[in-house]
Amino acid sequence: MTGVLQGKNLVLGVTGSIACYKALDLASKLTQAGANVDTIMSYGATQFIPPLAFRSLTHRPVIVDTFDPDSELSIEHVQLAEKADLVVVAPATAHFIAKVAWGFADDPLTTTILATTAPVLIAPAMDGHMYENQATQDNIEKLKTRGIRFVGPASGHLASGLTGIGRLVEVPQLVGHISALLGRDGDLAGRTIVVSAGGTQEAIDPVRVITNHSSGKMGYALAEAARDRGARVVLVSAPTGLDDPAALEVVKVRSASEMRDAVLEAVKGADALVMAAAVADYQPADVSDQKIKKDSSALTIELERTPDILMEAQGSFLKIGFAAETEELLANAKDKLDRKALDLIVANDVSKEGSGFGADTNKVTLVGKSGEVEDLPLMSKHDVAHRILDRVKALLG
Ligand code: C5P
Repeated sequence: MTGVLQGKNLVLGVTGSIACYKALDLASKLTQAGANVDTIMSYGATQFIPPLAFRSLTHRPVIVDTFDPDSELSIEHVQLAEKADLVVVAPATAHFIAKVAWGFADDPLTTTILATTAPVLIAPAMDGHMYENQATQDNIEKLKTRGIRFVGPASGHLASGLTGIGRLVEVPQLVGHISALLGRDGDLAGRTIVVSAGGTQEAIDPVRVITNHSSGKMGYALAEAARDRGARVVLVSAPTGLDDPAALEVVKVRSASEMRDAVLEAVKGADALVMAAAVADYQPADVSDQKIKKDSSALTIELERTPDILMEAQGSFLKIGFAAETEELLANAKDKLDRKALDLIVANDVSKEGSGFGADTNKVTLVGKSGEVEDLPLMSKHDVAHRILDRVKALLG
């Protein structure tokens, strides 16, 4: 299974903001993901970045000037508008947004936007006051009512030296929004999928926790893959070192009991619950209010069981569990499947190379309700996620 960007025709519009250096990275990431990226640059953008830079990254001609008599591409923008699956403009200046809002078509990019029936996603980047100016706000509102989507701007350091709103959203976020938009009519459209991820932290005192090695990568891959197939996704995440995925709801929790509350709330009306989180099985029975001081004697901490979330979550949704094991993989997985009344369990031997914690790959065995076993080869967590979702899709009918 390949990603939603594979083989898609994208038009990348780049306008004259210093943030267009980030558009190079975006062009590269989209191309690496298998998209055909045609770049159209405004005159202003070409003053910051030479078109050759985009050409080198996308391996495709770059359109810069409709009236260039030497260009064989002079009417191609209409063709590009026709075949585009999506037009994304990043960064978009206030000037460009104003032109689109008023229907101008005096350069290749505005002409393409006027001519396309594909979804258009605009990522503004400009000085904070320019963004907040009523003229810009009115133009953005006008475009939103016409179905044009906006992402950002974000807040933070601005090229002007000021801090505030106006930054182009970061490239991984842009890729996430583009993927979500391309996948919106996918085979899980109309479904709500709750995914848990990460390793819970059980407090001992205000500074210490009991946790595990879960990186959250498998759960995040599942959440993104479900989003890219059109599902509405709620990701209930215990702490991880990962950035929040774009275009889905992220609920941050720490402990098993916080995760329990968040999951039980999120599954109301959901179609499936995929518990990829490594939930602690035990928590300290008493959490000290103050940092526990060391002394010469040994320390004993009494542990009690955490709530079993999969057991407690009851409803008409599918339940998919994970079994991270170091021995007796299949027997333990089957036992869990029965005990927790699951529809599917994903068993992985975390002691195997390339599997489990922190790795970008995983080797799992899927065990279904009636005991059928599907052994998958070592593959990326992204691909594992899609194989699990194929089963979810089949189970949902
Ligand atoms: O029983 P065990 O903890 O090994 O089962 C693992 C599966 O159960 C995982 O899907 C995990 O997310 C889930 N789990 C849970 N609540 C717990 C512990 C684990 O839902 N307290």
